[in-house]
Amino acid sequence: MLTTENHKQLTIKTPTNRALPLGEGGEDVWIDVIQKMDEVYSELVDSQTELEEKNARLEEAHAFIGSVVAAMTDVLIVCDTNGLIQQVNPALETAVGRRERDLLAMPLTDLFDDASRKTVAGFLPELKNGGVVAQRDVSLSAPDSRNALISVNCTPRCDHRGRLVGMVLVGRPIGELQRAYRELDTAHQKLTQTQQRMLVSEKMAALGRLVAGVAHELNNPISFVFGNMYALKRYGEAITKYLSACNGKSGPAEMETLRKDLKIDQVLRDIGPLVDGTLEGAERVRDIVQDLRRFSSNQEETLEAFNVTRLVRTAADWVIKTQRVKPSVRLDVPDTLEIRGRKGQLHQIIVNLVQNAADVLEGDPNGEIVISGEKTDGEVIIRVADNGPGIPPERIDKIFEPFFTTKPIGAGTGLGLYVSYNMAVKQGGDLTAANRPEGGAEFTVRVPADEHASA
Ligand SMILES: Nc1ncnc2c1ncn2[C@@H]1O[C@H](COP(=O)(O)OP(=O)(O)OP(=O)(O)O)[C@@H](O)[C@H]1O
Ligand SMILES: [Mg+2]
Repeated sequence: MLTTENHKQLTIKTPTNRALPLGEGGEDVWIDVIQKMDEVYSELVDSQTELEEKNARLEEAHAFIGSVVAAMTDVLIVCDTNGLIQQVNPALETAVGRRERDLLAMPLTDLFDDASRKTVAGFLPELKNGGVVAQRDVSLSAPDSRNALISVNCTPRCDHRGRLVGMVLVGRPIGELQRAYRELDTAHQKLTQTQQRMLVSEKMAALGRLVAGVAHELNNPISFVFGNMYALKRYGEAITKYLSACNGKSGPAEMETLRKDLKIDQVLRDIGPLVDGTLEGAERVRDIVQDLRRFSSNQEETLEAFNVTRLVRTAADWVIKTQRVKPSVRLDVPDTLEIRGRKGQLHQIIVNLVQNAADVLEGDPNGEIVISGEKTDGEVIIRVADNGPGIPPERIDKIFEPFFTTKPIGAGTGLGLYVSYNMAVKQGGDLTAANRPEGGAEFTVRVPADEHASA
């Protein structure tokens, strides 16, 4: 800086180019000029510092944006209003296998495969017309087809005056996602099929367990049908013999003796009840076969009217006949409990519940199963109770889950209660489990008394 110490030797030129020697009244002007220069200089320094700070902040912001763009897994393309590429991010470079510098000023559509180009070309005009480009699936022309498919969102890019200067396209790779979804879908389908097969095999296993009981059940009517048919055959022979004698030359006394010997009067008395008995036996066989068919069928069951009491009795009989040590069964059900519903399904539910009760009582000489039934406003309630060990409280929520079983491997599929619960619910009913205060478990099935009316 200049000081007044050496002013005397110095002259200075004013803006009008007049020389003003120091010490001749020019000192004040000098001082003014020097002060001005000082001010200008310090302003310069200030603005320089400010500029440097701004520059540092700008660089920081630039680096920050750059790192964000680089970290994006979605592809990013910026293009101008002519559809020429201005910037891309590393994700796009990786997807198309080309560097950014090779892509700049290239038409955006060149990045996409033939089938997608027309769609991509329409994005800018659509944005210009105020439209929205969101979640459009298009394919990049990529070396690895797995990364090619992207779901694209486009937004208009405007300058500081709000004029459209291009667009920003962000694309999320969905090829991987789609493949993962397809794999999940296939796995789900396989699982559903396996589950279906398991349900069928559970049904068949239950059916298998019942075959012995059914054989027993069939044995009874078949044996009395046989017995009756032999008797009828004998009666037929006696009647034929007697009628042939009628046509011959035998006198009334001879005929009377023959009638007595052949017990014709008794035969005539017996024929009616014998035929009725045989018919009843045949009907019983037919019913059992029908029950069996219904039980093993996968078809949707139609509604029918039936007597729950009879159904419960048959179901319990079927199960108990297959048990080595037979628990006692007490039925506390009115003689008739008529309902309209799905007979086969209710039969299967009762069979499963009685079978479970028989399983927990296996080998117990004091085992007892009590089946009670009642009809209350619009529904029929059947309870199957046993005096077994009951269900541990921590398992009570689990027993209805598919495949939950406490039986040894191969002895139970754990589907009995799951299937039964679903069948009851499907009919508009319910199946619940509880422990009895006096010990043992109790299962309660509720089904509408008239499913059609409650539907
Ligand atoms: N009356 C019962 N008393 C105590 N536990 C029971 C009773 N009924 C069922 N459970 C429990 O519930 C589990 C599941 O029963 P569920 O009928 O679903 O399958 P499972 O009987 O084990 O096998 P599956 O019925 O295929 O033969 C049984 O393994 C048993 O632990
Ligand atoms: Mg079971």
